Amino acid sequence: MRPSKRLERIPPYAFAELERKIADKRAAGVDVISLGIGDPDRPTPPLIVEAMQEAVTEAGTHQYPSNRGRADFRAAVRDFYERRFDVVLDPDSEIIPAIGAKEAIFNLNLAFLDPGDYALASDPGYPVYTAGPWLAGAEPVLMALEPELGFAPDLGAIDEDVARKAKLMYVNYPNNPTGALAPEGFFERAVEFARAYEILIVHDNAYSEIAFDGYKPASFLATPGAKEVGIEVFSLSKGYNMTGWRCAVLVGNADALQTYWRLKTNIDSGLFEAVQLAGVAALSPEADAEVASMVELYRRRRDLVCDALRKIGVDVRPPHATIYVWAPIPQGYSSSAAYAEHVLEEAAVVITPGSVYGPAGEGWFRISLTAPDERIAEAVQRLGALAR
Ligand SMILES: Cc1ncc(COP(=O)(O)O)c(C=O)c1O
Repeated sequence: MRPSKRLERIPPYAFAELERKIADKRAAGVDVISLGIGDPDRPTPPLIVEAMQEAVTEAGTHQYPSNRGRADFRAAVRDFYERRFDVVLDPDSEIIPAIGAKEAIFNLNLAFLDPGDYALASDPGYPVYTAGPWLAGAEPVLMALEPELGFAPDLGAIDEDVARKAKLMYVNYPNNPTGALAPEGFFERAVEFARAYEILIVHDNAYSEIAFDGYKPASFLATPGAKEVGIEVFSLSKGYNMTGWRCAVLVGNADALQTYWRLKTNIDSGLFEAVQLAGVAALSPEADAEVASMVELYRRRRDLVCDALRKIGVDVRPPHATIYVWAPIPQGYSSSAAYAEHVLEEAAVVITPGSVYGPAGEGWFRISLTAPDERIAEAVQRLGALAR
């Protein structure tokens, strides 16, 4: 049996490899603390679980869902976008459900790219921004996020020929892995760039609900002209502790959504209607207090991690958003991977080497704040002991 050439081109999904390594260590009796993958450790809030329980008892949710999504789910998304982001969406043409942001991002490549096309991808960035174009037979072109530009790419530095061949651009704020908020004016520059080169901007909005220090991250679609050139993928995974539920939406440019829908009707049969009804509960104002308490939890953990890292001489800037701390590796290590390997072997703590997210991530590491407080405290204590 031989896998397709398409599949052979892409490296194995980094977290899948890591999971195997952790399992081996745990089987050998090692107390591994994983601050690797960003999977919230707290359960889904009860009001969402209860909505799901009620929904699964209704026979009407048991059949094939439509790929357009339930009217009440789309209405809930419309209301949420207006309430939270001051963005007005037409629920009939500008909102469509997705089986998680990962599905949406991957399928957008199949919907929009042909062999030879380019997709501009943030580097460091969520791995699907590069694996997706590759699997579609196209080429990802990396745009380095510059720390001195607030982790924005320098759009002016993109080669004209590349820009002309590009059909998609992936951007993501609040950003994984850097934790950065969208730098002032960046969304406006992206809209201008997209207009000039006829590129569809895909803004990956997986983390807008987790922000600290008074910040309330904006939707890309709140930028003037954004809807003409872009779409946003909004995921309920991280903000509502729903990673396992696979609930997300694509919102924005109606033509782009129609294209995605054409592809989707050939690929899958939509999002389980009971999950859509759980999504209605999640996006209601009643869930705001749950989100606020999660934000407070992550803020506390962020401070714990950043204080501990500073004590061991790591020059870390506390992020204002996301569930991650992004920091430069300590001196004396040849690479991010070497540091992560050392930390795993000597301290039994899993951190993610920045290079997993692209070449611009080299020299950095990511800590995920999705472990219980006492485990995070123990992990940072082990890192401290390692540094002495
Ligand atoms: C930037 C980013 N986008 C998308 C996703 C995936 O979200 P979902 O669970 O909705 O597929 C993640 C998950 O880590 C992410 O970090």
